[in-house]
Amino acid sequence: MSTPRIAVLISGRGSNMMSLIEAAAVPGFPGEIACVISNRPEAHGLVRAQACNIPTRAIDHTAFRDAAGKSDRIAFDAALDAALEEEQIDLVCLAGFMRLLTPGFTGKWAGRMINIHPALLPSFKGLHTHERALAEGVKIHGCTVHFVTPEMDVGPIIMQAAVPVLEGDDADTLGARVLAQEHVIYPAALRLVCEGRARIEGNVVRIDEFELAGHALVVPPAG
Ligand code: GRF
Repeated sequence: MSTPRIAVLISGRGSNMMSLIEAAAVPGFPGEIACVISNRPEAHGLVRAQACNIPTRAIDHTAFRDAAGKSDRIAFDAALDAALEEEQIDLVCLAGFMRLLTPGFTGKWAGRMINIHPALLPSFKGLHTHERALAEGVKIHGCTVHFVTPEMDVGPIIMQAAVPVLEGDDADTLGARVLAQEHVIYPAALRLVCEGRARIEGNVVRIDEFELAGHALVVPPAG
């Protein structure tokens, strides 16, 4: 297979996007970041991608409305899909992309689209994961890279990293500890997918010849 062409979809600051761009810039990475697309034209990540000479596109979701003035998700997803086809994209990475995608879109890209979620799925799907983890009093929190399926934050898990919840944590300190691990596992998981070594079997991902025995990383606290 030729080097997969990857699109990174963002909505905001793009720190995960940067971790993917930096990993893919290292010679020998088995994929090429071909473009970055944001549904928010003002997303700071677009500026950061341009500074790395990555082609960018903004597809403003607020421009897609039906006759009643309601958000037209099907039309937005069709425009997104057309852009991905134009860019000859093989793999899609959602990196802080804050739009729900329609089943038609997720179905078309099934097995070729991955997401990073700031919690240990299947716990804490959705938003405000760090606040909810603290409110539940969990002792271990983390992040997950998974294949995208029609249901949000569900889908075969490729890699996870766990971090401890420490005395005195608030959502910011815990979130920063998780984010540092997001930046580790997202490029690592993307590499596995690009190499065709993350095989989906039902709802489970089997990793071929991964150097760690499993594909969960438990990361101790610094210091
Ligand atoms: C990250 O925490 C990611 O897990 C979540 O949204 C956040 C995006 O941050 N899906 P960034 O734009 O990658 O910095």
